[in-house]
Amino acid sequence: MPSLIDNHGRPINYVRLAITDRCNLRCTYCMPEQGIDFGPRSTLLQYEEMLRLMRILADMGINKVRITGGEPFVRRDVMDLFQGLAAIDGITKIALTTNGTLTQTHLPALWDLGVRQINLSLDTLDRSRFFQITRRDEFDTVWATFMAMLEQQFEVKINVVLLQGQNDMDIIPFVKLTQDLPVSVRFIEEMPFNGGDAAQGKLYWDWKRIESVIQSEFPQINKIPDPPYSTALNYSIPDFAGSVGIIPAYSRTFCGTCNRLRVTPQGLLKTCLYDQGVFNIRDLMRAGATDAEIQTALLEAIGSRAKDGYEAENRRLSGFPARESMTTIGG
Ligand code: GTP
Ligand code: 5AD
Ligand code: SF4
Repeated sequence: MPSLIDNHGRPINYVRLAITDRCNLRCTYCMPEQGIDFGPRSTLLQYEEMLRLMRILADMGINKVRITGGEPFVRRDVMDLFQGLAAIDGITKIALTTNGTLTQTHLPALWDLGVRQINLSLDTLDRSRFFQITRRDEFDTVWATFMAMLEQQFEVKINVVLLQGQNDMDIIPFVKLTQDLPVSVRFIEEMPFNGGDAAQGKLYWDWKRIESVIQSEFPQINKIPDPPYSTALNYSIPDFAGSVGIIPAYSRTFCGTCNRLRVTPQGLLKTCLYDQGVFNIRDLMRAGATDAEIQTALLEAIGSRAKDGYEAENRRLSGFPARESMTTIGG
């Protein structure tokens, strides 16, 4: 298998495909109440186009894909896409990030296709706070789905975006959840991509503050080695079934090992979460480009990546913070 190396010497082996920008929740940190300007469906990369892209990328050395959104399961026939991905030589890991509202019935089929890693967005353990944050009353469904995921033996990570005054009271209960359940709970620094006026003051819940709150309640907590390319700082507590992580998504401490590309629902390639997109794969495909031409364009993009999220932010012509929503970036 060839290896893809970027202009900073980092191996690139992972693609995050955001397959729709639509979502059935309206998390305050991601989208305004009325949603964002979702493009017409014809602007979306079709499944066949995604599969073609993934075949090209697998030939170039990509072995992992994460399906994200928006909420992947609001797009029709998503299981067809998973089936197509599972059939691609060289793709050895297919992962999913989901809000868990529409996912439960698909779990057995996902398992059968070889999906093992599911990241579940769940920002609170309290039903009314769930409603406040997501603007929808879906806590019970998501919780039942979480239980079904564990039952099916998926490797589950819960994503908790920390919001001052909205779910910081959930930090300790979430850590306690890992005592009996084999789940990794990751607390995430909020990033300024909420599809509106994203200007945010200084980030209150940065990774150091999160770490110190957890440490003061659980002094026995240990920092454990992070797996290669991890975005999370990982911790374990003796005798707990699960583990805890902190993702410095805004502080961007992990860029030195960044191994990932992103593709937006409209086919825009991002070589960093913080960039404004490098070129549009859909346009290239629809203009009749050959696989070799697409490969050349991808190599050029990989050969000129920003060294970190700060450089990517500074390169944006449209300025920063942007009026972008995480629902088009895919997290
Ligand atoms: P794996 O690396 O596949 O385990 O995924 P993950 O845990 O990074 O992905 P997930 O979709 O669960 O995202 C968790 C949080 O990490 C989200 O808030 C993402 O936006 C953030 N995140 C993921 N990748 C990056 C990245 O490359 N840069 C930054 N700044 N944040 C990221
Ligand atoms: N800041 C940080 N993380 C975010 N996510 C969505 N919006 C934001 C934001 N503004 C996270 C969600 C989801 C993951 C893909 O991205 O927790 O699980
Ligand atoms: Fe990679 Fe950009 Fe995220 Fe840093 S901020 S880890 S360079 S995607």
